[in-house]
Amino acid sequence: MKSLSQEHRKFHPQSEFVANAKIQGMEAYKEEYEKSIEDPQAYWETVADELHWFSKWDQVLDSSKAPYYNWFVNGKTNISYNCLDRNVNAGKGDKVAFHWEGEPGDSKSLTYSELLESVCLFANVLKSFGVQKGDRIALYLPMIPELVVAVLACARIGAVHTVIFAGFSSDSIQDRIIDSKARMVITADGGYRRGKILELKKIVDEGIENCPTISEVLVVKRGGDTSIDCPMQSDRDFWYEERAESCDADCPAVPLDSEDLLFLLYTSGTTGKPKGIMHSTGGYQVFSYATSKYVFDLNDNDMYWCTADVGWITGHTYIIYGILQNGASQLIYEGAPNFPDPGRFWNLIEQYKVSIFYTAPTAIRAFMKWGDNWLEGKDLSSLRLLGSVGEPINPEAWMWYHEKVGSEKCPIVDTWWQTETGGHLLTPLPGAIPTKPGSATVPFFGIEPLILTEEGAETDVGILAIKNPWPGMLRGIYGDPELYEATYWSKWGGRYYFPGDGARIDEDGYYWILGRVDDVVNVSGHRIGTAELESIFVEHSSIAEAAVIGIKHEIKGQGLLAFITAIEGKKVDEALKVELVQLVDKKIGKFARPERIVFASDLPKTRSGKIMRRLLRSIAEGQELGNITTLSDPSIVDEIQNQFKNI
Ligand code: PRX
Repeated sequence: MKSLSQEHRKFHPQSEFVANAKIQGMEAYKEEYEKSIEDPQAYWETVADELHWFSKWDQVLDSSKAPYYNWFVNGKTNISYNCLDRNVNAGKGDKVAFHWEGEPGDSKSLTYSELLESVCLFANVLKSFGVQKGDRIALYLPMIPELVVAVLACARIGAVHTVIFAGFSSDSIQDRIIDSKARMVITADGGYRRGKILELKKIVDEGIENCPTISEVLVVKRGGDTSIDCPMQSDRDFWYEERAESCDADCPAVPLDSEDLLFLLYTSGTTGKPKGIMHSTGGYQVFSYATSKYVFDLNDNDMYWCTADVGWITGHTYIIYGILQNGASQLIYEGAPNFPDPGRFWNLIEQYKVSIFYTAPTAIRAFMKWGDNWLEGKDLSSLRLLGSVGEPINPEAWMWYHEKVGSEKCPIVDTWWQTETGGHLLTPLPGAIPTKPGSATVPFFGIEPLILTEEGAETDVGILAIKNPWPGMLRGIYGDPELYEATYWSKWGGRYYFPGDGARIDEDGYYWILGRVDDVVNVSGHRIGTAELESIFVEHSSIAEAAVIGIKHEIKGQGLLAFITAIEGKKVDEALKVELVQLVDKKIGKFARPERIVFASDLPKTRSGKIMRRLLRSIAEGQELGNITTLSDPSIVDEIQNQFKNI
């Protein structure tokens, strides 16, 4: 694999693209960027003015309680209003908000008026249970229209949604519900994935066994008449469709304070348990709107498609809030990219005439592996812009995407951001910034990145930092202000935001993300904390110690490797490995399974007892180990190395 630093190719947007783009050319970007940095508050105020506010803010930014920043102070707004009513009132009622296609091939389209009506009806169903502003509602749904509708319905009445990706296990559901003290779960009887039915309601039932805060489970019928087995508990579980029969579709959006909590989204970090990232209403609304508008250069006749799941931040910002606020049309697809065969995505692009396609490097690498023949003969000429998100994209994958999918004419926006940032921070603007394969290029308006040493000195290769606050930034970790301050603001004494990524800047001022600098591993774009996995392994009665590391993986970007020591006298065999994998499935979900589990009689440690994960990584990747004499027991290195030689 070519290293990112050797990459010097540069691709300019085609003149036809530039001619119609919102920001045309580098000079136009620079001018706007400089304005946004000289006076960020004036910049963000101009953007916010494009949206609807029940009443305007008194102050754009209040930094007096940093790192707790308040944006659009005392402004009153509603993001569901900005996604729906605002567009309908502007004459877009009959425009398609989204076409939806289920994995089995069923489909549905909703206009902005129809979506507004569905959201109001759903919101009234929530209200019929007494759901109020500030209540936390957990969503565990497949990628069906009701997921979008339920999210917007919560936002409409000020209930706080916490979407749980439908690949998470029942234990993960439990953890998130206990932490957020959610009062209701919205789920479905099932969902489709690679031709199989996932019985989601049953997973919820297990997950909420010990969750006393849950008083209702609202169940959407995904299966239609093909009854998916879905046991209902009479005093607790309600079919959405039945409940909706007695509700009407008139539900005005509630004016919310700019800093009212909009949603919680749990993400993994360096501690043993996921943290509830808090996003509030006004700032997130403005940031998701602005980044969608400029990064995807959305036009009235675009058909946008983001392949992420709404269970992750990408789906929140760039399927729901940012895209709908811009009044764009999009495609939403329920299922797997290779069902019934690896041509599915290309068929969908052809069928729905997708013009903007936003996906992850993992998917691109999987398509490369499945073979170009799946694209041959497919009409992808509707595409005009491509995007990448979630992990560093290697130049080979970038070039394949550029040549095979984009026919060498579509700009590629490689967007760097995080659950915490709410939206894009580093990204090309497609009509303005020439791209380089593997670089997320330059900062978005109002964003000032820095590359620093551990000590806080500026450097070319080091740790990424963000200097100024921005409207879409997280507002905290739910219930844990100390962790918020320690995780994001303690590295350089509270001066800068610390995202946890390494980066370098090149001679053109382009940023290259080099991966995480903490113990978070990015597997297929999913963040997994190694500490979280380690604590799961040591819960097993046979296990004494565990060290989990991330290693390079051809398709997934990174894979997980677990080094395990058993308690003396416990049997170490294949059966134990299977049990450990099952434990990961149960505690998190199948997507967090390690690639390999390696048993060792001990783990390499310093004399003070610290596990040397870096050494384990070097062993796994076959690199030079350097001086190991400082280990408490250097012989353990031979033992582990031998295991690798035997593969
Ligand atoms: O390491 C960076 C990587 O994904 C992390 C954020 O993960 P998450 O909160 O799950 O959000 C994923 C979707 C935005 C970052 O800290 N990452 C994300 N986008 C890129 C990336 N790494 C390199 N290039 C990107 N474009």
